[in-house]
Amino acid sequence: MRTVKIGLLGLGNIGTGSYKTLEMNKDTILASTGIDLIITKILEKDTQRKRDINVSQDQFVKDPSEIFKDPEIEIVIELLGGIEPASSFMMEAMKNGKSVVTANKAAVAANFDRLTKTAQENNVLFRFEASVGGGIPILNAITTVLQANKFQEILGILNGTTNYILTQMTEYDLAYEDVLKTAQEKGFAEADPTADVEGEDCANKLSILMALAFGNYVPPSDIPTKGITGITKEDIEAAKAKGCKIKLISQAKKEKDKILYSVKPMEIPFDHPLAGVNNEFNAVFVKGNAVDELMFYGKGAGPLPTGSAIMGDVLEIARLSAEKKQ
Ligand code: HSE
Repeated sequence: MRTVKIGLLGLGNIGTGSYKTLEMNKDTILASTGIDLIITKILEKDTQRKRDINVSQDQFVKDPSEIFKDPEIEIVIELLGGIEPASSFMMEAMKNGKSVVTANKAAVAANFDRLTKTAQENNVLFRFEASVGGGIPILNAITTVLQANKFQEILGILNGTTNYILTQMTEYDLAYEDVLKTAQEKGFAEADPTADVEGEDCANKLSILMALAFGNYVPPSDIPTKGITGITKEDIEAAKAKGCKIKLISQAKKEKDKILYSVKPMEIPFDHPLAGVNNEFNAVFVKGNAVDELMFYGKGAGPLPTGSAIMGDVLEIARLSAEKKQ
């Protein structure tokens, strides 16, 4: 048995979901991998909030350097959200020899080059599967089992909140504002939903997907982006009359030596597979020159699906670092 100690930055919705994923499955993980994962320290201001997990006050720290400088901690999970201080914290952890796992698409997309370079320079691992598509293992697929392909197209529904809102508006004739509130209560939408509903969250995710699939990093601010705030009940009805559903589509396509990319609401015919992707579910199509078309489908948001991706990355790092030490 090998014990791997973890420092967690942030115990909000996703932090709690990750903690819970480990709590639920610790025994199975230990039995199947021989790795005992322990979250020893947690950076979190709100130590009193009721969470449905077994966390003790001794685990909380106020100063992130208590995690970065702890020689026993091998892996830092960053779940603070936002570009800063999250990006600086991740780089600081790497400089102190810690591998880093994050779900923070805003930070990864904004600082993709700096974060990956800092990880390489410090000989640590950096994983961010949960940053795109929640529980869907799309980044892992692109970078491992599909790496023998040249990718030609990525097309998908990459945001659970907006897909939930559009689905509810379509199925129950509800107004945008009423559905947004429920999405927040269910924990899909960020505390500030602007990034979701304005399409910025999709642009972040598309930027990460393009960097990995095409080896071409495009800052999210350079991706033409339109969200769903202007979509009305009338737009939904008009689309229905044409046999379509409105979906927020993120798309990147290689044409000759150019890549075309955008995030925008589109009318999708009822019989298109993406039209059947509802509520908080996400789906990503990829087209590779050898594998041809693939579609990945699953829960793109929510504490446990995201926790599944985060703890998967943690285990992968624990496994790889054990191999390195042998
Ligand atoms: N707010 C995001 C979404 C969370 O709704 O998809 C997952 O990235």
